[in-house]
Amino acid sequence: MKRIILILTLALLGGTATATAEEHREIRITHGPWLCDMDATGVTVMWKTDRPALSWVEVAPDDGKHFYSNAHPRHYDAEHGRRRALETLHKVRLEGLQPGTRYMYRIFSQATDGWSYSDYAHFGKTVSTSVYQQEPLRFTTLDPKADSVRFVVFNDIHGRAEDLRDLCRQVDFAACDFVVLNGDMRSTTESEEQLFEGWLDVCVECFASQVPILFVRGNHENRGAYADRLYDYFPHPSGRFYHTFKAARTEFVVLDCGEDKPDTDIEYGGIAEFDPYREREARWLSEALDSDSKRRIVFLHIPPATSTWHGDLHLQQTLLPILNRSSVDLMISGHTHRYALYRADDTVHFPRLVNDNRSGMRVVVGRDTVRVTIFGTENRRLSFGIDRK
Ligand SMILES: [Fe+2]
Repeated sequence: MKRIILILTLALLGGTATATAEEHREIRITHGPWLCDMDATGVTVMWKTDRPALSWVEVAPDDGKHFYSNAHPRHYDAEHGRRRALETLHKVRLEGLQPGTRYMYRIFSQATDGWSYSDYAHFGKTVSTSVYQQEPLRFTTLDPKADSVRFVVFNDIHGRAEDLRDLCRQVDFAACDFVVLNGDMRSTTESEEQLFEGWLDVCVECFASQVPILFVRGNHENRGAYADRLYDYFPHPSGRFYHTFKAARTEFVVLDCGEDKPDTDIEYGGIAEFDPYREREARWLSEALDSDSKRRIVFLHIPPATSTWHGDLHLQQTLLPILNRSSVDLMISGHTHRYALYRADDTVHFPRLVNDNRSGMRVVVGRDTVRVTIFGTENRRLSFGIDRK
């Protein structure tokens, strides 16, 4: 027994010695925070640090009081019952918020300096966003009962970060409830650096710390060694890239187009299987839509029934028949790099609006219309009727 105690003591001392050597190291927030997966009662806060850390978010209603008016509960980056302390990519899901309500928040990461054994971890310096020298970060939850909701759409940026920044300069994000990234933000994603440098850092710089990203996967998000990690940066409680949410009495349907060529194409190197993926998505879609909702807007990167490429043809077999039966008011797409408006017809029972690769769209969903302003290369104003219910 004495021998066991001695070994444990030595182990603890050894761990402490390691921690002492490292405990004064600084920790930095290197990217973010960016908000994603906003709904009426929750949002996910994401950020990156240069060292592993224990991380949390403090949140408070933006009720006119200073952030320092009270202590705020900590919402930890935790998974499966354990606070994650060995990661540099941090994610905190805030739940139980009030719909249509403005909040202040602050992120914290406390460096994990060492780890002796079992759960004897050693935590060091803490870094956070400022609430004193600059205003606290803020966000507003979506409101399913609101009369209107406003959003902006960017797509097919293909890593042109400077072009994305130019488009963002033309947007008043204070008048925007969320920003849709509607696919193909890069052509391939080979590393985390490409993800940040290609577009995500610009989003953080321009809006994403306070206006949430709605991430819609395009076909090019499926390419590159790092494509398998994209989900980690835009997690969703469903575990999927496709899902639905509600705002302004409208059901928003976020769909995933998959790849555009046959899975066996030489370009996919033998690792694509999007036919079964789209079939699973269709089975989900047939159950997912709220039959009580008469107002519906769909985001799908590849506009169906506009070409004879395999991805398009397979979307026509899988998702389109369900959408045609589902009171869709408008589909918003990209992919072709050319503006187009396809009116409802016998094949597709709703309008498809296709944004080009150098324009953005401001969209306001009101009581009985969806108003779209396209800015950038194209400059157009469009209006679509939407069911009043
Ligand atoms: Fe595309």
